[in-house]
Amino acid sequence: MELNFHLVEFESSYGRPDQLPESDLPEIVFSGRSNVGKSSMINAIFNRRNLARVSGTPGKTATINFFRLGDIRFADLPGYGYAKVSKAEKVRWQRLMRAYYESGRGIALICQLVDMRHPPTADDLAMINFFIEGEFPFVIILTKADKLNKTERGRRREALRTELPYYDEITVIETSAETGEGIDKIRAIIQDLGEK
Ligand code: GTP
Ligand code: MG
Repeated sequence: MELNFHLVEFESSYGRPDQLPESDLPEIVFSGRSNVGKSSMINAIFNRRNLARVSGTPGKTATINFFRLGDIRFADLPGYGYAKVSKAEKVRWQRLMRAYYESGRGIALICQLVDMRHPPTADDLAMINFFIEGEFPFVIILTKADKLNKTERGRRREALRTELPYYDEITVIETSAETGEGIDKIRAIIQDLGEK
């Protein structure tokens, strides 16, 4: 059955591990550092301007925000790696993420976003290795491709072959929430998961 992406709805927000709702539906998760474009990507996928809150200030999304489309749940996670965040806030983030990933949720797919302009950060690589070790299904979504010219893109594409672990075994998609590039590929992956 063709998913109707217009029917997405905001479901709920959680800032504390003990509040997390039960995992009763397959979830597609958006992970990545602050400001990489997770919320923008969700808006682009669903063709909505303000479904997920976007901001030029890193750390905009401080809670886990759930969205629902039919029998699939989408999770917009708070970003990591923002230097100006307090120690207490970092600890809160870690507890929330641990509770999220280690509570046996039905994670159907993690979309790990990486800024295409730069090499993956140490935090990005730690997340990716955590997914590999935990055998979580994930794809790498390169964001902000619109900000690179053809030469720069080719250079980044080539460098990622060695920067990303298990490069040959992972799906890497170049995208732009600005121009819509690559969004159809992500929708196709979601559509496939919806049919399982
Ligand atoms: P946190 O909620 O802080 O974790 O950030 P986030 O990953 O949700 O990032 P968000 O979607 O809020 O975007 C951060 C900034 O990057 C905003 O100013 C967006 O407009 C911009 N941005 C996001 N995606 C793109 C893109 O594909 N191209 C360009 N040029 N800018 C983008
Ligand atoms: Mg966000």
